[in-house]
Amino acid sequence: MEKKTIFSGIQPSGEPTIGNYIGAIRNWVELQENENYENIYCIVDMHAITVPQVPKDLRRHTLELLSVLMASGLDPEKTTLFIQSHVPAHAELTWVLNTLTYMGQLNRMTQYKDKSKRFEDSSINSGLFTYPVLMAADILLYQADYVPVGEDQRQHLELTRDVAERFNNRYSPTFKLPEALIKEEGARIMSLQDPEAKMSKSDANKDSYLLLLDDPDAIRRKIKRAVTDSVGVVAYNDEQKGIKNLLNIYASFTNEDIGNIVDRYEGKGYGVFKEDLAEVVVEALRPIQERYNDLINNKDYLEKVYKKGAEKAEYMANKTLRKVYKKVGFIPR
Ligand code: TYM
Repeated sequence: MEKKTIFSGIQPSGEPTIGNYIGAIRNWVELQENENYENIYCIVDMHAITVPQVPKDLRRHTLELLSVLMASGLDPEKTTLFIQSHVPAHAELTWVLNTLTYMGQLNRMTQYKDKSKRFEDSSINSGLFTYPVLMAADILLYQADYVPVGEDQRQHLELTRDVAERFNNRYSPTFKLPEALIKEEGARIMSLQDPEAKMSKSDANKDSYLLLLDDPDAIRRKIKRAVTDSVGVVAYNDEQKGIKNLLNIYASFTNEDIGNIVDRYEGKGYGVFKEDLAEVVVEALRPIQERYNDLINNKDYLEKVYKKGAEKAEYMANKTLRKVYKKVGFIPR
């Protein structure tokens, strides 16, 4: 049986949060262990520059993210790990796909609408607008069957399928239509300060997110400050969105049934629940942080990993790009 291809990406635009981990990274680690899948994961530095980045921080965040991915369990012997800007085919296919993507559809992307609010109309860069086209190119180059992501990426996946279908119809069947793999539980971890908003590393309020590399004191402090409600009962419902989110985080790290956790805190206040949750998170992140500290100091090894990853990725990507160039009418060199 031919293996199915799994592709996903993550931006090095800051330090990864537990939202990235629960919504994406830990699912990638699980998929890696399934021998029916060929796994490819990409650090998307070209996506990151759609909002201003300090160059030396971007370089540092890229290597930190590679270390975090490996510390979380992604094994470069089993999985292809690479950096987007190392494989020029991503930019090249994006150009072709740009010519098949309608402005109207890009205008409807909710992530674009959210992100562009931060800028004056006259200073929204066109990279932010065509961001989903680069994402489509990432996925389509590898003929991915499945794309494991959090809920916030669903709309981008739909656009990817639309653009692929348009290309296939206009020229001839070329791209596989990828499917989003979104786990129900943990697909949307919310801000600790505003349970209506997604937890995001770009949030100005540092208390709103837990970073994978936060030290135990920071974790305890942020969870203690997490916004709850005045009901005072640990329960899982939409009237108590703050507690609901904390329960989701708890269950994600212990793999427990939410009902069991709720039962255990019957008659106890939020204080005890929050203290226990903090210890759950501290203990879950401890082994990841230990492995991370070894990896980040081993720059030679990191370089070997991303160079080998880029070679493998480039080979696969170029196969698709050559077909695309031929079909649109470019003369081969
Ligand atoms: P990014 O870097 O914002 O996030 C990486 C992954 O983490 C998930 N995620 C979350 N899941 C649950 N709760 C949260 N609070 C949370 N925050 C983030 C995201 O859904 C994502 O799966 N556009 C993508 C990167 C990308 C990509 C791709 C993904 C570029 N090319 C190709 C898949 C395939 C992004 O900005 O992810």
